[in-house]
Amino acid sequence: MSTILVTGATGNVGRHVVSQLAEAGLDVRALVRDPERARLPERVEVVRGDLTAPETLEPALKDVESVFLLWPAFTADHAADVVAAVAGHARRVVYLSADVPDEPETHYHEIERLIRHSGLGWTFLRPGGFAANTLGWAGQIRQGVVHWPYGQASRSLIHEKDIAAVAVHVLTSAGHNGATYVLSGPEQLTQAEQVRVIGEAVGREVRWEDLPADVAREHLLAAWGDAGFVDSALKAWASLVTAPEPVTDTVERLLGRPALTFGEWARDHAADFS
Ligand SMILES: NC(=O)c1ccc[n+]([C@@H]2O[C@H](COP(=O)([O-])OP(=O)(O)OC[C@H]3O[C@@H](n4cnc5c(N)ncnc54)[C@H](OP(=O)(O)O)[C@@H]3O)[C@@H](O)[C@H]2O)c1
Repeated sequence: MSTILVTGATGNVGRHVVSQLAEAGLDVRALVRDPERARLPERVEVVRGDLTAPETLEPALKDVESVFLLWPAFTADHAADVVAAVAGHARRVVYLSADVPDEPETHYHEIERLIRHSGLGWTFLRPGGFAANTLGWAGQIRQGVVHWPYGQASRSLIHEKDIAAVAVHVLTSAGHNGATYVLSGPEQLTQAEQVRVIGEAVGREVRWEDLPADVAREHLLAAWGDAGFVDSALKAWASLVTAPEPVTDTVERLLGRPALTFGEWARDHAADFS
């Protein structure tokens, strides 16, 4: 009955949660949509299920004590049924939410509310930007120059391994019930600096070239399709020039060691940019 279910187990954060829990000798069960493609450590139990089809979750939730929950969509459709299903089996949930202080009402807020009212013990992790977001530049980095808007937009990107380490700490120690942890990396770096650091990690000089916002809008519209999404991304980057993403000391406070730097992340991921 001490099994921990990890959702998003094949993703940037969940993969680390699974491996760190397994390394600690705990009973880990991974929820995946396609077990054939999951490539998870051997001693991890892999169970098929889909968060957008709550009726598929019963096998994964059987005899589970705790759940690491992420929500893979941009709306909370089906979330009420999923939270109810989790509450029908588990005692507590660690939810990977997000730090979105400028957005008053998002699916993150809605899911946090569902969990608060579910009867589950809960802890919310609210990270800012993931370091893995920079993988989107990999193609341009291989070409030696990144054309992107707002080179001076500054973020405190967090290594996904640290989000996972906090999740594992919360799942395996007492005293986190009802806590909301805002998580970040240890330093602010502009987007242009992030590209320079990745260049150092891969051993090549990579240049930043600022793309005017209107040109970037056309490129992103072609790539992403959704005008609302493109405009909100551009607005967010513009605001990070004048109001950089804050640094919190939560990772260090909880784990007793400094948060991993973006340089450490870039070295861990050098192969992804080579
Ligand atoms: N990127 C950021 O800066 C940022 C900041 C704050 C919060 N977040 C939040 O972090 C979460 C993403 O975490 P991540 O980057 O670790 O994930 P990710 O690498 O994007 O991977 C998504 C994971 O979700 C799983 N998944 C997708 N659709 C699913 C479904 N219908 N049912 C079950 N599982 C499904 C995928 O598993 P399979 O494909 O193997 O089934 C995969 O493991 C999102 O909720 C995002 O909003 C992101």
